[in-house]
Amino acid sequence: MAHQNQLKINALTRCCAVYGHPVSHSASPAMHNAAFRHLKLNWVYLAFDVLPQKLNSAISGAQQMKFIGLNLTVPHKIFAFEIVDVIDNSAKNWGAVNTIRFEGKDVAGNWQPLSQFESEMPTELRSNGFNTDADAITSALYEEFKYTPDNTTVLILGAGGAGRVAALKLASCGVKQLYIINRTLSKAVELSDEIRKKYPDVSVKLDYPSGNVDLVINATSLGLKNSDPIPVDLTKFELKKSGFAYDLIYRPSETLFLKTARESGCKTANGLSMLLWQGIKALEIWTQKPAPIEIMRKALIKNIYGNT
Ligand SMILES: NC(=O)c1ccc[n+]([C@@H]2O[C@H](COP(=O)([O-])OP(=O)(O)OC[C@H]3O[C@@H](n4cnc5c(N)ncnc54)[C@H](OP(=O)(O)O)[C@@H]3O)[C@@H](O)[C@H]2O)c1
Repeated sequence: MAHQNQLKINALTRCCAVYGHPVSHSASPAMHNAAFRHLKLNWVYLAFDVLPQKLNSAISGAQQMKFIGLNLTVPHKIFAFEIVDVIDNSAKNWGAVNTIRFEGKDVAGNWQPLSQFESEMPTELRSNGFNTDADAITSALYEEFKYTPDNTTVLILGAGGAGRVAALKLASCGVKQLYIINRTLSKAVELSDEIRKKYPDVSVKLDYPSGNVDLVINATSLGLKNSDPIPVDLTKFELKKSGFAYDLIYRPSETLFLKTARESGCKTANGLSMLLWQGIKALEIWTQKPAPIEIMRKALIKNIYGNT
């Protein structure tokens, strides 16, 4: 007897996918397929390892096969910005695309998401690029800590892809003071110049704060391995000086950074909530319907941490 949650793949099944290189670690298929089943959508979500130099043809292939949409992960987010046909403001702001929605022209000549076409598929198609990472950061911080950036002071460790988006998003939401620390100083300088240009009211310093901060974020990849050192110089900044500590890393569930922060009295949370919220926002962009948040969270937790 078929289980009620089993995928029934047939000629009408529609596809979504994540493209990455590598991609085998991705928890997105578990999260989105759980949502599709819950929403009774005859859709399937797959993961494909796509070489950066083949990204263009992989995106047009998905478009021609009338995929509903794509997610893009490392290293494709910046390259995709140059490839998609149109760019939503959410992606324009950050210069990176992590979600593509395929769209078709309806009989009235308006572009509609492909999810809105029932049987007769449009012939004129385009790819629309979005970014859901930036909003996911603030949604996650609000969900975890009820934190809103307005008028706060934040220390960001890391100025790579994720650190850059976190810093710019927080600056766009009215943070008063940003402190940015990065191993490679030139990247932090570049980021601070970008913030000062776009958000002149935000004060940016490339040093550890001497006083208290509201929030400290680990946006470095230090912590992915158990042997990694803590990403903060504790002789220059003691974690007890922050109210909240958020680690973008979610595997392991508690990094040395989070453990030390928790033991220092901070409220702590890991990056699973950010991963969840970028997925929620992507699903809503494709379906135009509210996402089943708790179903997606449960699927992610089960996929990443097992049944604990
Ligand atoms: N939760 C989520 O949804 C989510 C989303 C995106 C990313 N992330 C996580 O966020 C982290 C950063 O990702 P990313 O995309 O920004 O990667 P990235 O662009 O490669 O940036 C890596 C960052 O880590 C720093 N770093 C790496 N090795 C270091 C070391 N040995 N010592 C000091 N700093 C070091 C880099 O400094 P340099 O500039 O000096 O190289 C850079 O700031 C990763 O752990 C990733 O898994 C989570």
